[in-house]
Amino acid sequence: MNISKKMESAVNVQMNEELYSEYIYLAMASYFESQNLKGFAHWMKKQAEEEREHAMKFHDFLFDRDGTATLEALKKPPAKWASPLAAFQEAYKHEQYITGCINKLYDLAEKEKDHATKVMLHWFIDEQVEEEASALEIVEKLKLIGNSVNGLMMLDQALSKRE
Ligand code: FEO
Repeated sequence: MNISKKMESAVNVQMNEELYSEYIYLAMASYFESQNLKGFAHWMKKQAEEEREHAMKFHDFLFDRDGTATLEALKKPPAKWASPLAAFQEAYKHEQYITGCINKLYDLAEKEKDHATKVMLHWFIDEQVEEEASALEIVEKLKLIGNSVNGLMMLDQALSKRE
């Protein structure tokens, strides 16, 4: 069954949210590069890549359902943050926001009795649990580290290992 116009439009909004997610994490990668925190920058670049994959899942789904993907202008992300902790707090807040968007999309799919969209969204519902958990874990570590340069360097090293 083809996707309804209403559902198509809502999935497009989410595809663009994922593209903005890619954009903000890339901005965070640039910020970390500028601070010479290469491991943090690497983690954020990987995160940005993941967001592009999320956007493409929505993109391809729209065409599979005989809909169309429509790219919108992306808003300008911030260029710097007060500290690594501030950047990760924003990343965590952003993931909570995205979880809310996915949940609303699921509510709409239920209302529309669009089973295919519901099943597609199950992957995202699981993924958001991980997305929030991984950002929060780093927020908590940065809080523990406080002003310790050694601690920050160790975490930078650990984050450089993200595959
Ligand atoms: Fe695509 Fe980080 O949620």
